Amino acid sequence: MDLGNSTADVGSPRRQLSVYFVSAIAALGGLLFGYDTGVISGAQLFLIQSFKLNAQQQEFAVSCVLIGAMIGALIAGRVNDYLGRKRTLIALAILFTAGAILTAFSPNLVFFIIMRMVVGVGIGAAASVVPVYISEIAPSQVRGLLATFQQLAITIGIAVSYWFDLLFAHLGMGWPPMFAVAAIPGILLFLGMLISPETPRWLASQGRWEEARATLERIKGADPERELKDIRDSFAVEMSQGSLRDLLAPGVRMALVVGVGLAALQQFVGINTVIYYAPTIFQSAGIASANAAILATSIVGVVNVLSTIVALLLVDRLGRRGLLITGSIGMVIGLIILGLAFTPAFHGGGAGFTLFALIVYIIAFAISMGPVFWVMSAELFPTRLRAVGASTSTFVNWLCNFLVSVTFLSLINAIGSSFTFWLYGIFGLITLYFCIRLVPETKGRTLEEIEAYWLNGRKWVPVSELPESVRSQHGD
Ligand code: BGC
Repeated sequence: MDLGNSTADVGSPRRQLSVYFVSAIAALGGLLFGYDTGVISGAQLFLIQSFKLNAQQQEFAVSCVLIGAMIGALIAGRVNDYLGRKRTLIALAILFTAGAILTAFSPNLVFFIIMRMVVGVGIGAAASVVPVYISEIAPSQVRGLLATFQQLAITIGIAVSYWFDLLFAHLGMGWPPMFAVAAIPGILLFLGMLISPETPRWLASQGRWEEARATLERIKGADPERELKDIRDSFAVEMSQGSLRDLLAPGVRMALVVGVGLAALQQFVGINTVIYYAPTIFQSAGIASANAAILATSIVGVVNVLSTIVALLLVDRLGRRGLLITGSIGMVIGLIILGLAFTPAFHGGGAGFTLFALIVYIIAFAISMGPVFWVMSAELFPTRLRAVGASTSTFVNWLCNFLVSVTFLSLINAIGSSFTFWLYGIFGLITLYFCIRLVPETKGRTLEEIEAYWLNGRKWVPVSELPESVRSQHGD
């Protein structure tokens, strides 16, 4: 990845700054996604004491945020189109900030769960609105790079949440400030979005072409005419179709299978049992104190961020498939070791062995399924179906996230820790097979080439060489 070249492509120094600054502001939404999902890992150890939770209540206290996220993912598309990207992100910032403060003051479990669901709506919505905002505001030359910033922001949010969990655990302040701290990035997102522009694409969709032009002149610079023409052309194609039913048309259907398959497998390999339950896992591996368990977890968080940076640097060299295949093998190995760590024979290895296994696993996830799913969820679909395709796979991702996290502790009770992790390992093997058989290498391909790939029965062909019957059937 050549940051120097990409930067040069954007235009004059003033515009470069705007694009990166504005994208970084929007990425605060990703940071909140990461923080608000990661914070529960350390907080739950204290919630168990405050609210006297049994295993089922603990699972639900952890997972209820995901129900909100599913709702958020479903409604985000419409709200985003109705209010506009900027106002939607401002509304989400208010929701995040109010939710963070009210969660901290929860007097009982029911109030806590309701507040976590409210914050969850914000998380689910932000997960889909932020990439739309960034992709619509960013020049095409740096759009891919900026799209992967979202996953980096998510992992930074998770790591920061672990450190705050650790800090407040050390200070003996328990769970309330752990949640309240999320108000700070919420306020920053609110203030930042107030001074950020609406996207030219949304303004144009409302017929506000002069404002769209003014925004383009401010952000993308010298060639607003060409950008406006691109927007007009893409509208002409997108307006023609775009419902869920169109996703089931022959050819395109396979794009949906790959998008939804990656969404489900990203969760079925068990990533969030580690992200949400790592301190619990460390405790059951023999670390007695909550503080030490959270410290071990915070190491996992930092490794997650660093590995994501490695993925950013590799994704344009190794390609998506290379990362997915290497990562899947790594995840299977990590999960086998993790399962072994909980067998009587290896239990003497204790917490160090468990930490090692989790680090192998998290590196493998962070260089593969973590970033690559979010990148591919947008680029897999034909232009006119991109929004509906991406929101469908995002929804499936939250749904499967919920299914895995709500069953994790019960699974451990039913079949034991070792078999639970080996079960996720089986999904790692399925992921490997799925990626080898079905996931195309989209590195370096234009979106039109990817579209032609699906329409041509999963064979690469220049768009101009598609049979006429296929082109007219799909409205090209
Ligand atoms: C996943 C999240 C997960 C995070 C961990 C994301 O790509 O969608 O569910 O918590 O990665 O880094």
